[in-house]
Amino acid sequence: MKATRLLSALTVLIASALNAQAADLLSQQCVSCHAISKPADTSLERMLGRGGPDLYYAGNKFNKAWLQAWLQNPTVLRPGGVMYAKTVKAGADRTVDTIDASKVPAHPKLSAADAAVAADLLMALKVDGLVTPGAFKNEPPNSMAPMLFSKLRGCTSCHTAKQGGSATSGPELYSAGDRLQPDFVYAFTKDPQKFDAHTWMPTLGLTDSDLQKITGHIATLKTSEKK
Ligand code: HEC
Ligand code: HEC
Repeated sequence: MKATRLLSALTVLIASALNAQAADLLSQQCVSCHAISKPADTSLERMLGRGGPDLYYAGNKFNKAWLQAWLQNPTVLRPGGVMYAKTVKAGADRTVDTIDASKVPAHPKLSAADAAVAADLLMALKVDGLVTPGAFKNEPPNSMAPMLFSKLRGCTSCHTAKQGGSATSGPELYSAGDRLQPDFVYAFTKDPQKFDAHTWMPTLGLTDSDLQKITGHIATLKTSEKK
């Protein structure tokens, strides 16, 4: 009884907020590459075979303004593509990896109207228990933070933190302050396997103090203010 009433209330809410066509946008144009609900199959094969990153917790991860802008004008986030192993060519001297850019396809571009609809729909995709709201305490900037990030905890061996940088195995983080919610950065850095058991990002066992400093530093990495 209660559940049916809740369901019909939700249906009315959704129907009034979005017209039917808009609600279909993700399922028509995006699900071929992205999971927009938690996949039942959590195997390594599923992760290796997927066409793009999972979006079923997009509302816990992204800043809406970034989503809306990026969907209209997508930039490369993962220089090695969504599955690094498929695009990397070992460097001639075996120390530098190069990426076969022809294997990193351009992302579909949305019109301004579709991007606004998609950003709303994506922000509504949330999962309980992945990201703890308020985990990032937003303490004053700490002078050790950049050093922890780039040297001591080695994030920049996989993540490029400056435009034009060379780390290719992880997503770029130079726009992370625009793109990502700090509570997500905290949660993901603390325990990447919580998001995907097969993720290639190592669990680094950082203390809460280090996580706070590193998250605070990543929140300052933006491209939007430098234009
Ligand atoms: C042909 C496959 C394909 C289709 C179709 C597609 N995407 Fe993507 N998407 C990708 C890939 C690959 C990436 C990773 C790009 C990168 O990291 O540079 C991506 C990245 C994203 C990201 C950033 C995700 C992250 O974790 O960084 C968002 C948001 C996104 N796509 C939304 C959409 C939406 C909305 C649609 C439908 C309108 C869509 N995509 C359609 C392949 C696709
Ligand atoms: C050995 C390489 C490696 C190291 C070292 C590493 N990462 Fe990652 N990181 C990755 C990969 C690969 C991903 C993409 C994971 C996925 O999609 O499952 C990732 C994803 C992330 C994400 C999510 C970004 C997004 O847009 O989806 C954050 C935040 C992050 N890493 C932060 C860090 C921080 C902070 C450090 C240092 C404390 C660090 N990483 C160290 C490889 C690494």
